[in-house]
Amino acid sequence: MSESIFVDKTATLDEQYILLVKQIKNLLVKEDNLITNLSNFTAALKQTFNKISWVGFYLYDGTKLYLGPFQGKVACTQIKIGSGVCGTAAQKLETIIVPDVDKFPGHIACDVESRSEIVVPIIKQDKLFGVLDLDSTEYNSFNETDKKYLEELVDYLSKEII
Ligand code: SME
Repeated sequence: MSESIFVDKTATLDEQYILLVKQIKNLLVKEDNLITNLSNFTAALKQTFNKISWVGFYLYDGTKLYLGPFQGKVACTQIKIGSGVCGTAAQKLETIIVPDVDKFPGHIACDVESRSEIVVPIIKQDKLFGVLDLDSTEYNSFNETDKKYLEELVDYLSKEII
C-alpha cells in the first residue's frame, strides 16, 4: 500500500484516470475502515483534478442520503431520495452529468459557485449504498470520459472495498 499518489497534470484526461485508477487500487485496502477508504478516495480525486471544487459521498441510510467523507467546502447534510442531482441519481440508479446546474430542475446549491456536476450512484449487492458527487465552478466540466472512469472506480469500491 502506498499513502501518496503521483499526479501528472500534463497528461490527457484518459491518461490521468488510468493512472488514478491504478493508484486507487493500491491506496485502498479492504482491511482498512470504511471511512478511511472513502476519505482517501475523495482526496485522491481532488488531488488529481484541478477542475473539482467539491468531491464527496452521500451515503444511504435506508431512508435518505446523508453527508459522508468529502473534500471541499461544508455541504448540505441530508438529501431526500428524488431531490437534487444526488437524490435523482440515487432514485434512477444512473449517473447524471449536469453541464449547467441552473438548468437542472431542483438542483441543490450547497455551494453557490458550483456550475457543473456529475453524480454516480453506488450499488452494493443490488442495493443502493450511496452516491459519489463531484462539483466544479466551471460549466461543462464533466463528460463521458469522466463518467466511464468514475463508474469504474465506484464499481471497484462496491465490489472490493465497501
Ligand atoms: N448539488 C447537489 C447537492 C450536493 S452538493 O453539490 C455537495 C444536488 O443537487 O444534489
